[in-house]
Amino acid sequence: MTAQPSARTPFKGGFAPVTEEVTAFDLEVTGRIPAELNGRYLRNGPNPLSLDDPSASHLFIGEGMVHGVRLRDGRAEWYRNRWVRNAEVARRLGEEPRPGPVHAGMDFAANTHVIGLAGRTFACVEAGALPYELSYELDTVGPSDFGGGLPGGFAAHTHLDPGTGELHALAYFFGWDHHQHLVLDQKGTVTQVRNIPIADAPMLHDFALTERYVVIYDLPVTFSMAHAERGVKLPYAWNEDHGARVGLLSRETGDVRWVEVPRCWVFHTLNAYDDGDQVVVDVVRYPRRFVDARLDLGGSPTLDRWRIDPRAGTVTETRLDDRPQEFPRMDERLTGRPYRYGYTVTTTDLKDVFPEEQEMEALPDGAFDNTLIKHDLERGTGEARVFGRGAYVGEPVFVDAGEAEDDGYVMSFVNNPDRGAADLVILSAQDFTGDPVAVVHLPARVPLGFHGSWIAD
Ligand SMILES: [Fe+2]
Repeated sequence: MTAQPSARTPFKGGFAPVTEEVTAFDLEVTGRIPAELNGRYLRNGPNPLSLDDPSASHLFIGEGMVHGVRLRDGRAEWYRNRWVRNAEVARRLGEEPRPGPVHAGMDFAANTHVIGLAGRTFACVEAGALPYELSYELDTVGPSDFGGGLPGGFAAHTHLDPGTGELHALAYFFGWDHHQHLVLDQKGTVTQVRNIPIADAPMLHDFALTERYVVIYDLPVTFSMAHAERGVKLPYAWNEDHGARVGLLSRETGDVRWVEVPRCWVFHTLNAYDDGDQVVVDVVRYPRRFVDARLDLGGSPTLDRWRIDPRAGTVTETRLDDRPQEFPRMDERLTGRPYRYGYTVTTTDLKDVFPEEQEMEALPDGAFDNTLIKHDLERGTGEARVFGRGAYVGEPVFVDAGEAEDDGYVMSFVNNPDRGAADLVILSAQDFTGDPVAVVHLPARVPLGFHGSWIAD
C-alpha cells in the first residue's frame, strides 16, 4: 500500500511512503544471482509514519525505514522493510521504547544511511543524533553510542580506510562550536576524538578521506536561529556571511590546513586521494543550496574535481561531468586512493518532490531520466544505463567480486511501475549497459531514499 500524498508534503511521487512492514521469503528472480553474493543489501530512507505528521513536511526528517534483501547461495532469501524505532516510533507502533543513550534530547529515527560495523548493523543520521543498532533481520535493538565512546552524535556518512580498517566520521551539532572527527576500530570501538573549531555551526553531510588527510567541507550552509524560530524543521540556510573553505586535517598530527574554495554546496564525495603534495577531491557540487532553508533552490549538481595545493593554498576546480547527478559511489577498496571508476545516479523529477506552492528553478530535463552512470575518470567518459520513467532508480552500490577495480556488481533498487513494486537490480559493472546479472522481484514498492550498503555475511 502507498499512502495518499497531500498537497503540502514532499513525500510524493517516488518519495511517497509505504504504510506497511513486509516480510517475504524466497523471492522471484530473473537471471542468476552470483553464488558469491552472501549477505544483505540494505538501504535507508525517510518514510513518515503519517503524511499528517510534521515529519512529513521536510524530505530530510521523515522517520527512517530500512529496506533489505538477503542473498545466499544464489537465492534471494528474504525481503524486509522496517521502521527504525526511536522512542516516538516505538510508542506509535504500540511497542516499548528501546532503552539506551540519547545525545542532547536528539532522539531521531535515523533515516540517512545504514552500515555494517563489527558484525553489527547501524542506521545512521547526522546533526547530533545517535545511530540506532538493528538486528540482522532489521529489528531495532536500540540507540548506540558505541559503548559510551561517542561524546555527542554520530554522522550519516562514514569512510572506511581499506588500508588500516579504521572507520572515520565527522560529527556536527548546532549546539557545538566545533566539528568532531571520530575514528572507530574494527571492533566498533571509538579510538580517537578530535574537535575542530568551526564558526556558525555549518551543516556537514559528508567529507573525504585520503591516506594522509580527513578533508572537511566548511561551506556556507549554517544553522539559522531565524528559521528555527519560524518553525522550519531543518533550520539550516545558505549564509552569505559564511565563507567557503576546505580543511585538510592531518591524520597524523591533527593539524588542519584551510584552503578557500569557490562558494558552493556539497552533499557527497565520490572519492579523494593524495597526488604527490596535492590532494584530489571529487565531489557532487551545487552552486548553492538551502537558500532560505529551502531544498528546491540553488541550481543543479555537477560532478566536479578539486585539486588542492596545500602549500600554495590554492584550489583548482574542474568539471568532470555537467549532467545533474547525485549519490556517487565507487569501489571502496580504493577509498582515499587513486581510482578510475565511479557510479552516480540521475533520478526522478524533483518537481514531484516539492510542495506545489513553492516555485522551482528551471532544471534541465536530463535531471530526471532515471539513469545510472558509470564514469571512467581516466578516459573522461561515462556509460549511461537508462531505466524507464517512473523507475526511481536509487543509489548504485558497488560490490567487488574480482581484483580489477570494476570487476564486480552494481546494486540498486529500481521501481517497476507496471508491477507497482520494486526490483533489486544487480548489474555487472563491466557490462554496465548489458542485461542485468539478476533482477530480484520484491513484493512491495521501495520509495526513493538515501543511502545503503552491501553487508557481506
Ligand atoms: Fe548523503
